[in-house]
Amino acid sequence: MPDLSTTYLGISLKNPLVASASPLTRRVDTVRQLEDAGVSAVVMHSLFEEQIRYESHEVDFFLEHGAESYAEAQRYLVEPPGFRIGPEEYLKQIGKLKEAVDIPVIASLNGSSRGGWVDYAKKMQQAGADAIELNLYYMHVDPLETSQQIEQDYVDLVADVRAQVTIPLAVKLGPFFTSLPNLAARLVKAGADGLVLFNRFYQPDLDIETLSVVPNLELSTSADLRLPLRWVAIFYGRLEADLALSSGIHTPADLVKAVMAGAKVGMTTSALLRNGIDHARVLLQGLEEWMGTYEYESVAQMTGAMSQRNVEDPAAFERANYMRTLASFEHPRI
Ligand SMILES: Cc1cc2nc3c(=O)[nH]c(=O)nc-3n(C[C@H](O)[C@H](O)[C@H](O)COP(=O)(O)O)c2cc1C
Repeated sequence: MPDLSTTYLGISLKNPLVASASPLTRRVDTVRQLEDAGVSAVVMHSLFEEQIRYESHEVDFFLEHGAESYAEAQRYLVEPPGFRIGPEEYLKQIGKLKEAVDIPVIASLNGSSRGGWVDYAKKMQQAGADAIELNLYYMHVDPLETSQQIEQDYVDLVADVRAQVTIPLAVKLGPFFTSLPNLAARLVKAGADGLVLFNRFYQPDLDIETLSVVPNLELSTSADLRLPLRWVAIFYGRLEADLALSSGIHTPADLVKAVMAGAKVGMTTSALLRNGIDHARVLLQGLEEWMGTYEYESVAQMTGAMSQRNVEDPAAFERANYMRTLASFEHPRI
């Protein structure tokens, strides 16, 4: 039997399959099912900066202005969506999940700007979280804001959260930065023990009948694996941090690729939402079978075996291969 164990953020895990933040990691019963299906850890759905700010501002506002100012308060605060639980309830939920399952529970904080809300990182630790995943998610649209400012704010935010906790801290980020390696190195220096590559951005659509902007959250496919796969392969061995690959893990082969590229864990959501929680068993069984077929004794032996450092053609991850790929394109009409 191959050894599937791995470590992530300094935590020993029985295998490299983690359930990423989603509605499936919100409730005790589904988290139990995830554990039964074999995942080695769960990342809870996120507690948003806006939710924390909303709750604390609301209290301050009523104290200062009285309840009749409610409508005014509503105008300047982003109201959290109804399905999300409030900050205090989130902390209680950490405790409930920790009681219910034996696998590590990673709490998720989702925000983009510095402020008192980061206190919640400490509260999450006190509530029993094994680690924190800080999701840096913001669409910057102000033309006066420079990339340097934006990235410095992210680095400072990571340092602020790091200062709140002693448990491991992972940072989940998007792929859209000019120099991702530079930012990644700075985030690690600021205290990130791991990087989760990548966030899946919400991309609203246009309804051309009603002339409205419509929310659109599409589940991923295996094709979405390519982007994080490439960056994991490039970062492997170059950062003093663990890498988690998030986006596009749907099949056992996808999980194998994530590990071979250099991820300590592969995270999955869309595949479980589409096929059911038991799909985690399929992924893990497939990983084990693949390891048997190709005579890998352990996940540790596989990790990074196909990273940029370890493949025969390192340029395959860079521009040189882009030119070759374009030149080799064949189509019956050409
Ligand atoms: C319905 C839904 C809810 C999600 N909620 C969160 C969340 O609360 N926090 C977060 O960091 N990511 C959230 N995600 C993103 C996932 O954790 C994951 O990064 C993304 O779906 C890409 O992985 P996948 O290709 O395996 O789905 C959510 C995704 C979906 C589909």
